[in-house]
Amino acid sequence: MIQRELGQSGIQVTALAMGTWAIGGAWWGGTDEADSIAAIRRGLDEGINLIDTAPMYGCGLSEELVGKAIRGRDRSQIVVATKCGLNWWAGEGEFFFEKDGLTVYRNLRPEQIRYEVEQSLKRLGTDYIDLYQTHWQDATTPIADTMGELLRLKEEGKIRAIGVSNCTPAQMDEYLAVGRIDSNQPLYSMLQRGIEADLLPYCRDHNIAVLAYSPLGQGLLTGKLDPGREFPEGDLRRGNRNFSPENIRRVNGILERLSPWREKYGLNQTQLTLAWTISQPGLTVALCGVRNAAQVADLAPGGRVEIAPEDLAAMESIIAELS
Ligand SMILES: NC(=O)c1ccc[n+]([C@@H]2O[C@H](COP(=O)([O-])OP(=O)(O)OC[C@H]3O[C@@H](n4cnc5c(N)ncnc54)[C@H](OP(=O)(O)O)[C@@H]3O)[C@@H](O)[C@H]2O)c1
Repeated sequence: MIQRELGQSGIQVTALAMGTWAIGGAWWGGTDEADSIAAIRRGLDEGINLIDTAPMYGCGLSEELVGKAIRGRDRSQIVVATKCGLNWWAGEGEFFFEKDGLTVYRNLRPEQIRYEVEQSLKRLGTDYIDLYQTHWQDATTPIADTMGELLRLKEEGKIRAIGVSNCTPAQMDEYLAVGRIDSNQPLYSMLQRGIEADLLPYCRDHNIAVLAYSPLGQGLLTGKLDPGREFPEGDLRRGNRNFSPENIRRVNGILERLSPWREKYGLNQTQLTLAWTISQPGLTVALCGVRNAAQVADLAPGGRVEIAPEDLAAMESIIAELS
C-alpha cells in the first residue's frame, strides 16, 4: 500500500483509506454489523491503516462499529480519523439541514467540541484520536475559538493531529493564523474536480494533506453499477438523477473506454478510478466508502499503484467527459 505523510504531523497514512459513512446505515438504506466489522478488519489485513468516521454517521453507530472492529488489533498501527461539529441533539449553532426527523446544526463552539471528543473516544473505545477534523464549517463560531480548543485537545494528548473538512482556502487561512492544520477533506472524484483550481494547489503550497471523499462517486465510478439497480428506501441514491439508468449507462460507457489503461496497469475499473485519484498532484488519500469485506478486497489493489503522468494526460480527454 502506498504510504504518505499526513501534512506535517509525522503520521504515515496509506493512500487508500476506509470511509465508514455507509456503515453508519442512515441515508444508506441500513447497515449490517458483522459485514461492517469484517470490512474494516479486511482493510487492515490488506494494509490499509486509515479509517475515517464521524459522529454524524448513524448518530454514533459508525464510530461504535469502528471501535468494535479495531478492538484487539495493534492500536499503534491504526490511524483513526473522526470529526466534530455537527449537532443533532441540542438545536444550537448554524442550521444545516433537516432529514428523517433530525434537525442538524453546524456547531464548532469550544464547549461542543469538548463534549464531542469525549463521546467519540468512548464510542471508539480508544484514549486518543489520530486525526480530529471539523466536519462542516460553522459561520456562527469564530474559527480562532474553534482552533483554540482543538489546540488544547492536542496539548492534552486526546488528539494527535488537527484537520478540517469542507473548508475553503480563505477559511484555512483563518485556521493557519492560529495554528497548524494537517489535512482537509473535500469532495473529489473523476465526476467532481472543482478543487483542482484552488484547494489542491493551496494545500500543496501549505503542506496540508488532502483526503478526497466520495472518490468512487458513491459507486458510479466502479464501472459495474447496474443501470437497473433498485436502491432501497432510505438510500440517498434512490431517486437521485446521477443514479438514473440513463446516467449510469452514460458513465459506464465513458469508463469502458479506459480499457487500455486497465490492461496496462492490470487493474479493474474500481481500482483504476482509485489509482487515478491518488495520482493527482497534491492529492494524499482516497477515502473509499466500504460496506463489506468483498468490496474492500476488490478495491485494495488501487492503493498500490500510481499512474504515470503521461498516462494521466492520455486519459484526460475521456475523463473530462465525466465532469
Ligand atoms: N467530510 C464529508 O463531508 C464527507 C462526505 C461524504 C463522505 N465522506 C467520507 O468519505 C467516505 C467515502 O465517500 P462515500 O461513501 O460517499 O462514497 P464512495 O467512496 O465514492 O462510494 C462508496 C460506495 O461505493 C460502493 N463500493 C465500494 N467499493 C466497491 C466495490 N469494490 N465494488 C462496487 N461498489 C463498491 C459502495 O456502495 P454499495 O455497497 O451500496 O454498492 C459504497 O458504499 C465516506 O464513507 C466518509 O468517510 C465525508
